[in-house]
Amino acid sequence: MNLFAERNTRIDTENAFKVGPHIVHVEQKKGAVIKLNLGEPDFAVPEHIKGEIKRQLDLDNTHYCDPKGLLSLRKAISNQINETRGLKTNPEKIVVFPGGKPSIGLSQQVYCEPGDEVIYPSPGFPIYESFIRYVRALPVPLHLEESANFTFSPEELANLITPKTKLIYINFPSNPTGGVAGQALLEETARVILERSHPNVRIYSDEIYENIIFDGHQHRSISSVPAMSENTIIASGFSKTFAWTGGRIGYAVFPTVEEADVFKTLNINYFSCVPPYNQEAAREALENPLSKQAVKKMVETFEARRNLIWQQINDIPGITCQKPGGAFYLFPNISGVCENLDLIEKHDRLPIEQQSSPANLFQMFALYEHQVAVMDRNSFGQIGADGKHFLRLSIAAEQSVLEKGVLRLKEASEDLSGLDKFLNERPDLISS
Ligand SMILES: Cc1ncc(COP(=O)(O)O)c(C=O)c1O
Repeated sequence: MNLFAERNTRIDTENAFKVGPHIVHVEQKKGAVIKLNLGEPDFAVPEHIKGEIKRQLDLDNTHYCDPKGLLSLRKAISNQINETRGLKTNPEKIVVFPGGKPSIGLSQQVYCEPGDEVIYPSPGFPIYESFIRYVRALPVPLHLEESANFTFSPEELANLITPKTKLIYINFPSNPTGGVAGQALLEETARVILERSHPNVRIYSDEIYENIIFDGHQHRSISSVPAMSENTIIASGFSKTFAWTGGRIGYAVFPTVEEADVFKTLNINYFSCVPPYNQEAAREALENPLSKQAVKKMVETFEARRNLIWQQINDIPGITCQKPGGAFYLFPNISGVCENLDLIEKHDRLPIEQQSSPANLFQMFALYEHQVAVMDRNSFGQIGADGKHFLRLSIAAEQSVLEKGVLRLKEASEDLSGLDKFLNERPDLISS
């Protein structure tokens, strides 16, 4: 008899949480690491939100509450969604979750039968791909094109939709690329979906970076395209906009009350409810005019860093980088570095059990020998990622730290002898 059920072999993970122990190991041995791997804003939660959490605790708002989410918060979300997307949703179609993440996997449980196909962006947030096989559905990556600033072509999407398609994830602004979709792409995508798919196919539009957009642009949601609100789930949350990743508050707006209530049942089964004092503070975040100022300041800082670091990273021989339109990541192509360091050959010559990808080797080499932490391409979806050599750099760090990190990446990209030493020793395998 096996200890673990077989399905546990079919779930993946989020490498962002796995790289931590490697960083600790390097810091214990060598000293501080420059961390450009972080998927959370390096800002404090705005004071008025913190104040509301404290106030709610003092009111003893610390008990079980509505598993669907507090009505006060769902009303505030509903108002905000209707205002920004031009919709007419209502609080009954909204469910609050502990973060933006849970509704990703729960949607696969709710909508997919074994054998159904799930389309998702690649590179993309790893949890889309991670869950698909767990529910015995079939992963169908929709590759984001570097040449189109990490968007996809509606024709490509059309080719992937089959009678088995059940769920389609899109994510703009995107993690890990920072890509943003324009109105034309959203409209074309909507047209393809409406033409090609059954009305019961759901579009999961992950809009968690909706407020982190540069160059004076506004966030656009596919749910605003006529008829799309009838099949789109809008998912968003408070982790990125309010630098509040530890608050664990996210939400989804469903096309129907019936669907929202199925998710409510899952909430009851899994975790009962989200802490009410945080939910009231999330309501405050949406309703207090001070939030706009705090978010604006954060976004302006990200934009200034993006401009600077994008330039500096493009100055490194062997690296080219698209200019992200939102979120707080850069996604440089390091094919030239892989070539200069002969990394593809060196990777292929490794014993099979030590192979990962050339970009992963570079990630580990940069961490262990040059003390700079970034993420590799394969951390954002593995299917069809062979031969794609990219890194994700987070700009959620002070400018001076970012500049130092880029300098270390440059040094790593030229350090042939250091790479050979690293490959001989593979300290990352010993410590993992
Ligand atoms: C695209 C995307 N969706 C969802 C999440 C999950 O957010 P949360 O921390 O609120 O669960 C993240 C976090 O990195 C993300 O990048």
